[in-house]
Parts: sequence; structure tokens; C-alpha cells
Amino acid sequence: MLPEFKNEPLTDFSLPANRAAMEAALKQVHSQKGGHYPLLIGGELIDTKERIVSLNPSLCEEVIGTTAKADVVLADKAVQVAMQAFAAWRHISPEVRARYLFKAAALLRRRKFEFSAWLVAEAGKTWAEADADTAEAIDFMEYYGRQALKYALGMPVVAYPGEQNECFYIPLGVGVIISPWNFPLAILAGMTTAAIVAGNTVVVKPASNTPVIAAHFIRLLQEAGLPPGVVNYLPGSGTSIGDYLVAHPTVRFINFTGSKEVGLRINELAAKIAPGQKWLKRVIAEMGGKDAIIVDSEADLDQAAAGIVASAFGFQGQKCSACSRAIIVKDVYDVVLEKIIAKTQKLCLGPANDPTTDVGPVIDSSAYQKILGYIELGKQEGRLVVGGEKGDDAGYFIKPTVFAEVSPYARIAQEEIFGPVLAVIKAETFTEALAIANDTEYGLTGAVYSHNRAHLEQARRDFNVGNLYFNRKCTGALVGVHPFGGFNMSGTDSKAGGADYLLLFMQAKTVAEKL
Ligand code: NAD
Ligand code: ALA
Repeated sequence: MLPEFKNEPLTDFSLPANRAAMEAALKQVHSQKGGHYPLLIGGELIDTKERIVSLNPSLCEEVIGTTAKADVVLADKAVQVAMQAFAAWRHISPEVRARYLFKAAALLRRRKFEFSAWLVAEAGKTWAEADADTAEAIDFMEYYGRQALKYALGMPVVAYPGEQNECFYIPLGVGVIISPWNFPLAILAGMTTAAIVAGNTVVVKPASNTPVIAAHFIRLLQEAGLPPGVVNYLPGSGTSIGDYLVAHPTVRFINFTGSKEVGLRINELAAKIAPGQKWLKRVIAEMGGKDAIIVDSEADLDQAAAGIVASAFGFQGQKCSACSRAIIVKDVYDVVLEKIIAKTQKLCLGPANDPTTDVGPVIDSSAYQKILGYIELGKQEGRLVVGGEKGDDAGYFIKPTVFAEVSPYARIAQEEIFGPVLAVIKAETFTEALAIANDTEYGLTGAVYSHNRAHLEQARRDFNVGNLYFNRKCTGALVGVHPFGGFNMSGTDSKAGGADYLLLFMQAKTVAEKL
């Protein structure tokens, strides 16, 4: 019997055996750096003249690997092949489809350290962040496999005399999976396997900063025995093949996670009907955030400062869920700010492969320049209290940075910086703090530290975010436990890791037979 879903435990790296396993995995991955990864279309490996070069953000001269780079001709081939594969895959039972996911999860669990080591190397994740990314990928497959079994039972319908009625779920068709670099394994794995377990076939376009991890995941699916053409690996430029895939008339849905700008473009492009297109495309778009943590005057101030620092600087602030605004009620503002400063100063900035590192590099040169630009702006918009400069030039290192006394309307308090930069804002009252928290175009995550029941209930009702946390940090949603997705310009609130996520990839068919 299938055991109940349980979240994959995180690795305790204080244990010598786990430390040794991770060191060994890092060595193994190091020996494989510089490898080349072709496209995979219908089981066929296809190389191209043009290549994507993936670099190590901790050591920006080092090549992690290269991949082929698809053009629109290959993108069209991938869609056609996925369409052919759909003819058979749609009729495979949900039970069998789920078994591929369980098998892939088991393989990934066995190779957990190796995948985490790729995440350290290619995405600049610290050991703990990499381990959490790998664990989440396992969780998604275990969870969505089980959800597919639930939906196999169909939708309950009311009995009607003289008729035999049913309503069951069928897949949509060919989907395009467009994933970000910041959870290059977990989000890619979740977005892909949810779509296929529901009976669709997909073309996966990974982020160009992390195509090597994606290639390893695709190989893992092959190893799990997935039939050719069900998942096709198509690294390439977002603007050229991305636009082409989104506009393709054969594509039935687009599952996107990334920035607001690209999400809006996809939403608009997908709404246009191409000649020969027979359906309205479904767009699932999970986008950015400008997430806030509120500290009330009655709260555990140490825990609040610890939660703010962990949420602001975990993975260098490059999480859609990251806290980029701390909104503190005036009576405790000075005390909490001092605690935030002290905790931030203790963070160790360094290369991701070093186990003592708390804050690694940001992802690439363009993110590095953009974040440093925001830091310069912050020096005009607030009072710099920690950081404010770059680190070692070997990689894209930026010191964790805190600005105090920031206006709620400052650009650093409104725009997604996606780096290790925190704006601290003073509020007169708890009600004003909530109003400030809600006053952005986003609505992804938020947290409140308070002992005041009335204030917590006020926030439960009025804090307009998809994921709200009380007396804990605003990052680290767990599959099944905290279904994840945001409001407003944070996206379509698709609730990844939630019990109804798979419905996004299916349509319900009602059949009534007169007896
Ligand atoms: P991005 O939007 O730059 O890229 C995301 C993906 O879109 C990449 O694969 C990219 O190649 C592709 N792309 C770029 N242009 C395209 C186009 N015109 N058509 C189709 N695809 C195109 O985002 P990113 O930098 O990879 O990721 C960071 C962003 O993702 C942040 O804004 C972050 O908040 C957001 N994010 C959101 C969630 C969530 O669940 N809400 C989770 C993770 C990341
Ligand atoms: N799901 C990730 C988190 O909650 C982004 O931090």
C-alpha cells in the first residue's frame, strides 16, 4: 500500500556522515564540470551549433557546463513530438503515470547529495538551501503522484433517476513549462511532473542560468523509464523560443514561474488566437513579490529579528517569498532594528561550496549590477545601517544590506530587487503597518510577529497575500503543508504543492447515459 505523504526530512549537516557525503558529492560534481548537454526531443539527443554556457556564480570564470540552444525550428519539432506522444500518454492510467513520479522521487532521494551539489555549483545555493531545494523536488513528485490518484476517482455527481451519470478528468494536451533559476530543481520538477501526471505532455524550457541542473533532472526522468516525448528538454533564449512556444497554436497551456514582466508578456501573447488554434490557452503564471514582515509592539522581538534576517538573506534574498520590507511598529522599532543589525552583521558571506557560508553569491552579472544599482538608490532613499557594498570579486558577492527609515513609497520599498537588500519601515500603529504592507502591486507572502490575538485576526482578514505566516518567517513553504502562490501581480495564485493544483492541468468531462 502507498504510504501517506510525508515531507522529505532536511539533512542535518552537523552530522559528520552527512558532511562527508556532501563533500564527496561536491567533488564528484566538480569532476563533471564543463560537460555538454544536448536537447532531448522525443528521446532523441539533438545538438546545436549555438550553446548556452552556464557559469558558477561563486567563481564566475568557472564553466559548470554547456547546453545546446534551441531555435524556433527545434521548438516547433519539440511541440510536434510532444503532440504525438500525447496520443498515447493521455490513455495511460493515472496510477501508472503516478508510478513514474514515485520512481523518479526514489531515484532523486538516492542521489540527494549529488543534486544538491549541482545546486551549490550552478545556482550558488548554500548547502542548506540546496538541500531544501532537492527535498522540495522529491516532495512535489510524491505529493502530485498521490493527488493524481485522488483525481482518478472523478468529480462526485448527484444521482438522477433514469440516468447513469459521471464526471471525470481528462488532460489538456501539450504544455510549455517555463521555469526560473532560483529553485532550478524544485520548481522545475514540480511544474513539469504535475502537468505530466495529469496526462499531458510537455516542452520544458529551463532558465538559461541553470540549464545543467535541469538536464540532470530530465535524465533522471528518463532513468525512471518515462516514455520518450512525454517530457522534452529545450533550453533556449526566453525572448526567441519563449515567445514562439507561447504563441504556438498546438500549445494548450503554459505553466510559467518567473518575473512579473515576463509573466505579463506571456499572459498577453497567449491570449491571442493563432491561425489554426482550436482552444483558449490556459496560463498559469506565478510571478514576483515585495514581501513584508510586520513586527507588532507586543511580540517576541528576538524571534522577529531572527525571522526577518532569515527571510531577507536566505539564498541571498533571491526567493519570491523573501522579506524585502520589515515594517515595525514605532514603540519597538529601535530595539528590533538593533537586533536586525546585529544578526545581519554575523552572517558569513562566501562561496556556496563552503559549509560555513550563510550568504553566497547572486546569480549572475546582470543581477549583480541591478542589485548594486538599487543599493546606490537606497543610500538616497534610506539610512544605510549594514552592508551596502560588494564582496570578493571572484564571484557575484554582495554584502547583506539593510536600510532603515525607508519611506513606504520609496522605490526600494516598492520594486522587487531580488537580492540581499532589506528596507526597514517605521509604522505609527499596527493598522498602519498592515496598510503599508498591502500597499504594493504584489501579494505573495507576508508574516506578522505579534502576541495580540485581535491584531493576528485583523491580519488574517486584511493582509492581502497568498501565503501569510504568524510568528514565523515568510519563506520556506512546505509541499502539502503551505500551498504556495500569490495575489495581484504576484500571479494567478495557482497554489503549488496544494491539493487542487493538478486541476489546472485537467478538464472535466460529464457523461450522461439514459438508462
Ligand atoms: P524571468 O522572468 O527572467 O525568467 C523566467 C523564465 O522565463 C526563464 O526560463 C526565462 O528564460 C523565460 N523567459 C524570459 N523571457 C521570456 C519570454 N519572452 N517568453 C517566454 N519565456 C521567457 O525570471 P527569473 O529571473 O528566472 O526568476 C526570478 C523571478 O521569478 C522573480 O521575479 C521571482 O519573484 C519569480 N519567482 C516567483 C515564484 C512564485 O512562485 N511566485 C517562484 C520563484 C520565482
Ligand atoms: N516556496 C518557496 C518559499 O516558500 C519560494 O520560500
